[in-house]
Amino acid sequence: MESLSQRNLVIVGQGYVGLPLAMAAIDAGWTVIGIDNSEKRVEDLNNGKSPVEDISDVTLESAIKNKRYTASTDFKNVAFADVVTICVPTPLNDSREPDLSALQNATISTAPHLRDGTLLVSESTSYPGTMRDVVIPLVEANRDSGSSNLYFAAAPERVNPGDQKWNQKNTPRLVGGIDHKSQEIAVKFYSSISSNPISVSSPEVAEAAKLLENTFRLVNIGLINEFTKLCDTAGLNVNEVISAAETKPYGFMPFRPGVGVGGHCIPVDPLYLTWWARKMQSAAPMVELADRTNHEMHKFVAAKALSLIRESKKRSRVLILGVAYKAGVSDIRESPVALLRDHLKSQGHDVHWIDPFVDMWEGTPPASHIIGFDVAILAVNQPGIDLTQILSEKIPVLDCTNSYSNVVGVTSL
Ligand SMILES: NC(=O)c1ccc[n+]([C@@H]2O[C@H](COP(=O)([O-])OP(=O)(O)OC[C@H]3O[C@@H](n4cnc5c(N)ncnc54)[C@H](O)[C@@H]3O)[C@@H](O)[C@H]2O)c1
Repeated sequence: MESLSQRNLVIVGQGYVGLPLAMAAIDAGWTVIGIDNSEKRVEDLNNGKSPVEDISDVTLESAIKNKRYTASTDFKNVAFADVVTICVPTPLNDSREPDLSALQNATISTAPHLRDGTLLVSESTSYPGTMRDVVIPLVEANRDSGSSNLYFAAAPERVNPGDQKWNQKNTPRLVGGIDHKSQEIAVKFYSSISSNPISVSSPEVAEAAKLLENTFRLVNIGLINEFTKLCDTAGLNVNEVISAAETKPYGFMPFRPGVGVGGHCIPVDPLYLTWWARKMQSAAPMVELADRTNHEMHKFVAAKALSLIRESKKRSRVLILGVAYKAGVSDIRESPVALLRDHLKSQGHDVHWIDPFVDMWEGTPPASHIIGFDVAILAVNQPGIDLTQILSEKIPVLDCTNSYSNVVGVTSL
């Protein structure tokens, strides 16, 4: 373990959130140790191999070469930090309820090494009260001098993988400290990374705002998915209707239908909100309904795609185009396209896929050629997907992405 100079940052969790934060902090003058409990990830990082699209190998290699970045599995490095940020996953468990085990484990491993005066921030998404009622008590229980002489804040990350416009620098960051001094130090830290840190009055406000941001999207997507089915019954093109409504200069924000919602945020965070509501003996039925509506959307997509097949068959050959959770990323975790595939397969159809960003999808390789299919479903409009050959083969295409209009052979959702 190397001794470090001033402005040392330790980031626990080196994934989609932690690694971009590390590189942004290095740009801002910090020296960073990225701690991760995956030995393979740490080895790759120290060999200059970035696991996330937003950070190139060249950027990572340069940070290593300039001695500004090291990855490690060793939590003793925490002892050198002025600031520690936790950026570990906060998924759902099998009952679709908050699973804070990674956050709890990361806190337990970090706590014994925190020296006096360190700021501990959680950037992981969670329900209001997580910093106060989960993280701080774990520090209290696992550090010799408890939580005294430490500073605590919640600053939920807003990274949007693959986004060319919004980055760590220009995205406003919410910062909620546990007390006045924590707030002051945390705002100072985020001022060095983001041009717009925004003070809120408590960690709970920051945590709740994060859930609201993503729940807002889930509910609006649910509304549009429901509206899509109505338009379909009425013989209206939903995307044309949305574009028409979008001409209103105020009070309307367009959301588009799709196979469902994917990624680690929109399908997950609203369930932290519904769980939080239940914890308070309350409820969030609108959010629950939107979740169910989005979760059922793949069935509508499958039925609509099969209706495009000229001669109805018991076992159709279906090609899915794009399987990552969104365009521009290779990440297949929490992709709603998996539900579409499984639903079609459960009905006896022969389902294949291609995605220029994905080499293997849950144990299956991509289709080796794109001939002989009865229908193709453009589920995610990944850069590099080309419909030319599919259309020349006269394979009907269902476009779930609003990418093609007025193209013969392509039907919009
Ligand atoms: N990915 C996004 O787009 C995004 C956007 C905003 C917020 N978030 C939130 O940020 C948090 C992190 O998400 P992510 O996408 O970066 O996850 P990720 O899976 O990409 O990376 C998390 C990393 O943490 C490591 N890890 C897990 N448990 C650990 C432990 N106990 N100690 C040390 N390392 C550990 C894993 O090995 C992994 O490398 C989550 O709460 C997520 O909801 C994610």
